[in-house]
Parts: sequence; C-alpha cells; structure tokens
Amino acid sequence: MSEAERKLSAPTLRRLIHLVKKHTGIFMEERKRELLFARIRPRMKELNLQSAEQYIDHLESHKDEIQKFVNSVTTNETVFFRTPIVWDFFGQDFLKNWFKKNPDEVLRVWSAASSTGEESASIGMMCEEFKRNHPTFRYRIYASDIDTEVLDNARRGHYKERSIDDIHKRMPELFHRYFVKSTKPDPQLCEAILGNIEYFVHNLHSRGTRTAFFDVVFLRNVLIYFNDPDQELVLRNIHASLKPDGVLIIGESESLARLKTSFEYTKPLIYKRAA
Ligand SMILES: C[S@@+](CC[C@H](N)C(=O)[O-])C[C@H]1O[C@@H](n2cnc3c(N)ncnc32)[C@H](O)[C@@H]1O
Repeated sequence: MSEAERKLSAPTLRRLIHLVKKHTGIFMEERKRELLFARIRPRMKELNLQSAEQYIDHLESHKDEIQKFVNSVTTNETVFFRTPIVWDFFGQDFLKNWFKKNPDEVLRVWSAASSTGEESASIGMMCEEFKRNHPTFRYRIYASDIDTEVLDNARRGHYKERSIDDIHKRMPELFHRYFVKSTKPDPQLCEAILGNIEYFVHNLHSRGTRTAFFDVVFLRNVLIYFNDPDQELVLRNIHASLKPDGVLIIGESESLARLKTSFEYTKPLIYKRAA
C-alpha cells in the first residue's frame, strides 16, 4: 500500500477533489490520488499533520491556508516561446496587421494563465523585436494567474534554470538582447520589458473588470484542467474582456471544436472573437 493510499482514504480523496474544484475550478479525477497527495504533502509536513484528513480539517478552518492550498495544487509547467507556430503567428502576422490598423494605439495583451512568467516575457521579447523596426509601436502586457507564488517569481523577472538554459540554447540572440545580469547569479529580464508587464492575481472562472479591453489573449495550457461547462464559462469571460476584433490564442493540446463558444476558428490554436 502506497503512502498516498494509507494517508488519503477514498472519502477524503473525494473531499479533496471537491475543494480543488471549489477553489481553483480545476477538475481532478480519483485516479489522480498519488499526484494530489504529492501536492499537499509539503503542506502537511510544514503543519506537522499526519493525514490528508487532518490537512483538510485545517484548510476548512483556516482561511489563510486557502491560497497556500491553491498554490500547491496548480500545475505550472511552462517554457519561453512554447509552441513555435504561435510565436510565428504573433511576431509576424498579428503584430504587423494590428499595427497597420492601429498605429496610434497601445497594444494590450493578456497572458491569462501566465504561471512563472515565461509566456509574458516571450510576448515582451516579440513586441520589443517588432519595435526595433517600428519605433513608435507601444504595448502593455497584463499577466495573471490564480497562483500567487508563481506571480511573485514572474514579477522579479527571474526564471527557473531549466527555462534559462533552454532559451539560451534555442534563441541565443534574444537571450543576450533581453536578459541582463542582476545582483543574483541568474540573469534577469530587462527593465524595458518588465516595466511593460503588470502582474495580478485572477481566477479565470470570474469575470474580470476589464471589458472589451484586450487586443489579444493568450489562454494557453489551462483550459485542459477544466471540465467542458467550466471551459465554456471561462471562454465567456475571456470573450467579454476582448475587443470586438480581438484574438484568442490557446495551447497545443486544446481545441474549442466541441464547445459552445462565440469564437471563430482562424488557424490552428488561433481564434477570432465573434460578435
Ligand atoms: C501549465 S500552466 C500554463 C502556463 C502558460 N500559459 C503556458 O502555456 O506555458 C497553467 C497555469 O494555469 C494556472 N491556473 C489554473 N487554474 C486557474 C484558474 N482557475 N485561474 C487562473 N489561472 C489558473 C496555474 O496556476 C498555472 O500556472
């Protein structure tokens, strides 16, 4: 019998799954017992609790544990320039067309499940690259997540070693142009980009306060964690936040094909806001 089976009984597992759904919207199946237990185990250790049941009792009676629980159960996997076709589209087609139509406006981009910030930094690098040939181009990036810990890291402009090694190897030119040595040994994203990114906590299941505000939303590799009705709810919220001709970009293993939404397919992973 594994530790998870001993310390996380079937009824407690169902309680835990309910709490994950309640606080994050993430849908988990009972076969994810080992994963879920591994996620809450550091909290149990920290609080010196012997079973998942004791941890849930603690969670339900201590409001300040909720955010720590949310931070523990989310999956934050990300890299710079994840899925090259998306960046070819954004850096070449999208920015060119948008700037042609809106030469005097500020482009507003939302990285709506930004995790540790590699996605918002990639958006920033693409915008800075575009700016080299179009000096009057202006942009602002809004990066949100439900996990406060990843946002704190992103805000500092420091990234995990694996991400840094990866961009250094795959895109050395961009790396040298947009990363600077900081007081810490690891390189930091340059201020020109960091200064254009606003980080904030946001649960995608709630309607944001910014209506018809964004030109493009990156909603990538997060819909997969929600069930179909919740994916539709999240997409309604995103729809409301996009400008009438706004664009939605999703993740490589996601599709809107079987969902009821007001988005029109443009090309793989790219959708247009429908009226
Ligand atoms: C796998 S990462 C994706 C990061 C990035 N978008 C990418 O594609 O590389 C998924 C992120 O979604 C966040 N997330 C999960 N549920 C969320 C919710 N209800 N609202 C906002 N963010 C959520 C997680 O905290 C996590 O950082």
